[in-house]
Amino acid sequence: MRIDILSLFPEIIKSSLEHSIIKKALNKDLISINYHNIRDYTKNNQKRVDDYQYGGGSGMVLMIQPIYDCIKELKEERDYTNIIYLTPDGEKLNQRSCNMFSLSENIILICGHYKGIDQRIREYLVTHEISIGDYVLSGGELAAAVFCDSIIRLIPGVLGDESSALTDSFQDNRLSGPVYTRPENYKGLKVPKILISGNNKEIERWRDMKSMERTKKYRPDLL
Ligand code: 6GU
Repeated sequence: MRIDILSLFPEIIKSSLEHSIIKKALNKDLISINYHNIRDYTKNNQKRVDDYQYGGGSGMVLMIQPIYDCIKELKEERDYTNIIYLTPDGEKLNQRSCNMFSLSENIILICGHYKGIDQRIREYLVTHEISIGDYVLSGGELAAAVFCDSIIRLIPGVLGDESSALTDSFQDNRLSGPVYTRPENYKGLKVPKILISGNNKEIERWRDMKSMERTKKYRPDLL
């Protein structure tokens, strides 16, 4: 998978994708992430990227030209499966859409700022508008990092067996249950006996029950 990210602050995204599992995926060449600073594509002397909105109103809008030119340049090199604009007024990301996006070959991500980007980019170039939840961030960068992390870990070969994506929360519309590791007794705080019983069938039943309990408590909407 190749990801191209358009942003005014690519460093924010880059630094959050250079660790742990995602770093390994980059090193193994399972993915490549390419950063494009929108400011580098401006054609005015001041390198201005934003302007006032037509019709009046507070807040600046990212201009069409630099984003348009950057996407045009990328599209001349290769086809893109998805061109995604990260925005709080988009469709909410979930595990199902992550699974779908993880199958893409080439993806462009556009990070907005201020009041957002010129609507014509959204109408004529963007294929999906994605939000990561019902709250507002100051820019699309952290959302882009979340988006990348959530889809990259689903690419075959990125996760080893030890962290299989199949047992993640949401993969079956349920929250994950509790997990424990050594020691068995820490200052009187004990691991549930069932987990030490060696009875795999009972352990599985217990885990299933715990996962259901947690889902009922925190996310009854999933059931
Ligand atoms: Cl994708 N962008 C911004 N700026 N805020 C958000 C978001 C995206 N998703 C939730 N809040």
